[in-house]
Amino acid sequence: MCHRIQYTSWNESKHKTKGLDCEGCHGNGGDYKAIGVMKDRVAAMKAGLILPGLVFCKKCHVKADASMLPLAHAHKTK
Ligand code: HEC
Ligand code: HEC
Repeated sequence: MCHRIQYTSWNESKHKTKGLDCEGCHGNGGDYKAIGVMKDRVAAMKAGLILPGLVFCKKCHVKADASMLPLAHAHKTK
C-alpha cells in the first residue's frame, strides 16, 4: 500500500460510505501507477492523474471553498 496515510483516513470517511474512491477523485490509477511516473508529478498528470479542484467538489458540496481541498483526506507531512 503506497499511500497509507491517505488510504487510512479515506477508509474512515463518508466518501468511502458513499462509494467515492481514490479513482473517483484522482482518475484511473492504472494510467499513472508506473513508479517512474508516480514519482514525477508532471508526468503523472500527463498520464491521467487528476488533482481534483473545487469545481469537482461542487458537484456534491454546493458551498465548497478552497479551505476544503486539504480536508479531502489526511496527507503526509512534508
Ligand atoms: C474526495 C476526493 C478525493 C478522494 C476520494 C481521494 N483524494 Fe487524494 N486528494 C484529493 C485532493 C483534493 C488532493 C489535493 C489536496 C490539497 O490540495 O491539499 C489530494 C491529494 C492526494 C495526494 C497528493 C499528496 C497529498 O497527500 O496531498 C495523494 C498521494 C492522494 N491524494 C492519494 C489518494 C488515495 C490513495 C486515495 C484513496 C485511498 C485518495 N487520494 C482519495 C482528493 C481526493
Ligand atoms: C460524489 C459526491 C461528492 C464529491 C464529488 C465530493 N464529496 Fe465530499 N462528501 C460527500 C458526501 C456525501 C459526504 C458526507 C455528507 C456530508 O458531510 O455532506 C462528504 C463529506 C466530505 C467531508 C467531511 C465533511 C464532514 O462534515 O464530515 C469533507 C471534508 C469532504 N467531503 C471534502 C470533499 C472535497 C475536498 C471534495 C473535492 C476534492 C469532495 N469532498 C468531493 C460527497 C462528495
